[in-house]
Amino acid sequence: MRILAAVFWITSSALAVTPAETATLKKFLSDYCVKCHGAEKQKGDIRLDDLSGDMLAEGTRWSVIADQIRRGEMPPDDAKAQPSDIQKKAVISWVHAQLGAHAQRKPNLGNLVPHDLLFAPASSEKSDAPAARLWRLSPEAYTGWVDQVGGRVNGIVQPFTANPERGIKDFSSLGRVDEPTTEILLRNAEAIVEKQTGTRIEDGKVIGKNDAVREFTDLIKSDASPSRELLTKAIDRQFQLAIARKAEPDEVQRLLGLYEKCAQGGDHAGALRTVLTAVLLRSDAMFRAEMGGPDGMLTPREAAGAISAALMHKRDGALFNAAEKGELTTREQIAAHVRRILDDPKIQKPRLLGFFREYFEYDNAPDVFKDEPKDLWHRPEQAVLDTDRLILQILAEDKDVFRTLLTTPLTFVNVKTGKNKETKQEEFQRAQVPNPQNQKGKAPIESLYGLTDWTPQQPITQSPGTRIGILMQPSWLVAWSENFNNDIVRRGRFIRERLLGGTVPDLPIGVAAMIPDDKTRTLRDRVTNTTKDERCWKCHQHMDDLGLPFEQFDHYGRMMTADLVLDPEATSKNVNYKGVPQGDVYKPAPLDTTGRISLTGDPKLDGAIKNPHELLMRIASSDRARQVWIRHVFRYYLGRNETLADAATLQAADRAYLQSGGSYKALLTSLLASDSFLKRRVGTPH
Ligand code: HEC
Ligand code: HEC
Repeated sequence: MRILAAVFWITSSALAVTPAETATLKKFLSDYCVKCHGAEKQKGDIRLDDLSGDMLAEGTRWSVIADQIRRGEMPPDDAKAQPSDIQKKAVISWVHAQLGAHAQRKPNLGNLVPHDLLFAPASSEKSDAPAARLWRLSPEAYTGWVDQVGGRVNGIVQPFTANPERGIKDFSSLGRVDEPTTEILLRNAEAIVEKQTGTRIEDGKVIGKNDAVREFTDLIKSDASPSRELLTKAIDRQFQLAIARKAEPDEVQRLLGLYEKCAQGGDHAGALRTVLTAVLLRSDAMFRAEMGGPDGMLTPREAAGAISAALMHKRDGALFNAAEKGELTTREQIAAHVRRILDDPKIQKPRLLGFFREYFEYDNAPDVFKDEPKDLWHRPEQAVLDTDRLILQILAEDKDVFRTLLTTPLTFVNVKTGKNKETKQEEFQRAQVPNPQNQKGKAPIESLYGLTDWTPQQPITQSPGTRIGILMQPSWLVAWSENFNNDIVRRGRFIRERLLGGTVPDLPIGVAAMIPDDKTRTLRDRVTNTTKDERCWKCHQHMDDLGLPFEQFDHYGRMMTADLVLDPEATSKNVNYKGVPQGDVYKPAPLDTTGRISLTGDPKLDGAIKNPHELLMRIASSDRARQVWIRHVFRYYLGRNETLADAATLQAADRAYLQSGGSYKALLTSLLASDSFLKRRVGTPH
């Protein structure tokens, strides 16, 4: 039975550039820009005669072009040919529309939309609500769904893959469902129904399983053709399990028809299983639909699905009940439900921590392969769990969340929770306990945080001048390191993009991105002296100076008081009695943790910095950095990049955050009750 073709449909709506548009743009550039930015002259190192209008490939260049024109910097006043205001406006709005449509679909292009326009007091460029869309379940939500429908089912294969790129994983534009995926979905659905009906009939006996669904097994056990009433009950039950609501009469009717057709040969059990499988393969089980009703608002059911999926990997029963009662039609009702879910500690909300994992990416720490040093017990998995706990604690306090994330002196150290054997109370316990034999001579995890003994009094407050915030957690430092070194460049890129809202053009293919391997020089020395080359600096000026302060730590995340360089003389003398070399010997070199914030467009941010503390303190008090963070929150929960049409939503979210004293709950509630989340353009095809 292949009902799949009808069940899945794939969205695609590319915004094509028309030849006429390309011609107009090319003429504009050639009339006013190419004289100084063409094949011959390339003022400011930028060439504009070879653009095709392809935003995915050329997005960064187009956004700079629009910016320069908008600020009145280009063409320069002394250029002879000057475009009219109308011409300039046309080019700028074309670029913004294109960036809006395209950059929206790719997670790491969000920053191309100019920050100052998004947060301008009266953002003039208004446009439509976002288009209708179907958003496929994320891999985690699919797992949650299987769990909700069938419990633990053997043989389930994950049909969906997450975005392999850096950053946010689940974007609505990325979740395509193709042939092989539908095959897997079908097999999974059959496995779930197999389990739900718990039925194999062997030698005339029904082999049942205890956790099968009663409504289904009752039907299967009886030999006779089941009544419509019982069948309807079973269908309703499957609807509840799969999409958290009862079936509509016409839906029941269609499935009863399917049942009758399949049961003609006399196989009632088989027919029932086909019907139950069909329900699991409905598109509204695999996708959250956001098509919008006649008024352009998400329908109550769509809103219930959207809010559930935003916060958890399951469908929230109370939300769907509210939808059935005709609630969830106003912003206030929706905000109240968001608050209810956020405030209820019994409801698991994995997507709260999920955002922070994808934003900071500290959870990659175990994936960075490192030789374990002789003198440290390297446990990156535990470092990640400790950071998880710290973030959850900050969210529980829910005060000044952004600043606290970057600057808190608190940390958890090697913690798990467990029951005290005597008091039976939950308590903090030491998670990783070194084995005196295996970990002989290795400093325990606690040493990373300057503790000599583990303590159950957690979180601990780290001494001034040691570590603050998530970016100095060992998990983050290791996640943003290489196998043998710190990763100065990518740490800098992280700060430029995720905290300052800037962009760096991708590393061009064919650039010799090599740092000399000379261990007698510090990494700082080797990186800065390589990338200061003009060809490299035009990109690396956006990254390196922001990553350098973290030279305060080594690539295992240990705090350093000196840098280390190879001592060739001592190394050559480090031989055993047979003259066999015994390894490299390092000597201290002066530790330099200085850096610079530059090119942010915010004079309060730019300037020299002494160390990573100063860097983070300054960023933490910046309005712009906070807003950039809010832009990332938006992207995670709305599954797309912001466009200028979302300016009002972002500004309202920022206000809600500030007025609540920095509450993440208030921020989320504002976003999830916004037009950007709840409204759809009326009459657009999907
Ligand atoms: C008369 C020569 C001239 C013309 C015409 C001209 N530019 Fe420029 N452009 C320059 C110079 C010089 C620089 C380098 C300025 C600097 O770095 O301060 C520059 C720099 C730039 C930059 C890089 C800015 C940056 O921040 O890196 C962009 C983008 C740019 N121009 C776009 C344009 C566009 C678009 C036009 C046409 C509308 C244009 N230019 C017309 C001379 C020109
Ligand atoms: C067009 C922009 C651009 C130019 C030009 C550029 N880089 Fe980079 N470079 C990047 C970006 C972006 C990254 C970060 C890549 C990532 O995040 O994976 C990077 C990363 C690096 C890294 C670390 C990545 C690694 O593979 O270990 C080194 C080293 C480096 N660049 C050296 C250079 C040198 C040397 C030059 C000049 C010869 C240069 N780059 C020119 C953009 C550029």
